Amino acid sequence: MDVFHREALAADLANKVLFVAPTSASGSGLFLAAPRRTGKSTFLREDLRPQLEKQGALVVYVDLWEDRRADPGDVIVHAVRAELSRHDGVVKRLARSAGMEKVTVGGVAFSLDRVGLGEGVSLSAALAALSDETNQVIVLIVDEAQHAITSERGNDALFALKAARDELNSSRHRGLRVVATGSNRDKLAMLRNSRDQAFYGAPLVNFPPLGPDYVAWFCERVGLAAPLDPMVVQELFTHAAFRPELLGAAADALRFEFGLAPQDVPGRFAAAVQEQIDASNDELLRVVHSLTPLQAAVLKVLARRGADYAPFEGATLQAYQAVLQAANPAGEARADVPAVQQALLALQEKALVWRAARGVYAIEEAVLAELMEQRGLLADVP
Ligand SMILES: Nc1ncnc2c1ncn2[C@@H]1O[C@H](COP(=O)(O)OP(=O)(O)O)[C@@H](O)[C@H]1O
Ligand SMILES: [Mg+2]
Repeated sequence: MDVFHREALAADLANKVLFVAPTSASGSGLFLAAPRRTGKSTFLREDLRPQLEKQGALVVYVDLWEDRRADPGDVIVHAVRAELSRHDGVVKRLARSAGMEKVTVGGVAFSLDRVGLGEGVSLSAALAALSDETNQVIVLIVDEAQHAITSERGNDALFALKAARDELNSSRHRGLRVVATGSNRDKLAMLRNSRDQAFYGAPLVNFPPLGPDYVAWFCERVGLAAPLDPMVVQELFTHAAFRPELLGAAADALRFEFGLAPQDVPGRFAAAVQEQIDASNDELLRVVHSLTPLQAAVLKVLARRGADYAPFEGATLQAYQAVLQAANPAGEARADVPAVQQALLALQEKALVWRAARGVYAIEEAVLAELMEQRGLLADVP
């Protein structure tokens, strides 16, 4: 795939991550927030990672969204083990410190399965050994990090990383930096809000969307029957909430419109982008329209309350009931606590709702709440 590179941004961020001022909290890590499909993962893989490596860091990349069913805690541990396995010296070191002096003799092999949460070798010890052996600063990139606090093991992994960070950033070692990304500021904020959280105080930065330089790059290589004006496309791109895929899909649609006259290209392109936006919105709303009355009521109340949402309080239960009533005055559905619990579970399974392990809920995609508001779906929420 053709990628527009953002080298200046990568160099700037790599600097901020690697060279920490003594007074700065960035030793705590760095959080980048931006909506879904705006190019975070692409940037991490294609630009930030190579830049960090160029500046001498050892990068471990973990995507907590890649396999939604895997426990985020395990995904983090596996990524660390995979990196360890690439360095023979580190494995020997760990074997020695685990009391297995003769690692290569006598057929007793040290197994990396011992590295983990509550296992023989802690993540902290493993990462310290890795950094000492390679003499490199380690940067752990956790993509879609908000997923980590949806499970106990994920939470455990974050606390283990906090311990690792404190250990590796002491004067005895080269250092560990954690870069986390996520699509929702509120959720990321939970990772750094309270003192007992793994990333207390880490700076939360808005990851900048792709800009006019990307749009110019896109227009240059789009290859339609007539050129596109970057100024106009920039407006369309903003309207498309900075999602490159929508521009790409619109261009693809035009390529298959045989007999399209060159003078009609700009107008048709604008229309095609709008079609892509509508299709993407319809797709989101289609799921909402397939919900049971109670699931829909719970989702609407959550969308309206946002960060103040308290799922089982009396007033909230009344709000669900009012929404049910408005949708169907003769309906039988009751919003009691067990039924609401069921509904929240179903909404999580449909990936509409996100739940932190300690029972905090949020809408999975912030744009969905906006869209429901726009379409008047929240009008019945008291
Ligand atoms: N720098 C870029 N150049 C070209 N296309 C991009 C770029 N960044 C993102 N894209 C396109 O947008 C899609 C979504 O990007 P992705 O990095 O997965 O977003 P996010 O991680 O924010 O959800 C990618 O599949 C790719 O097609
Ligand atoms: Mg991503």
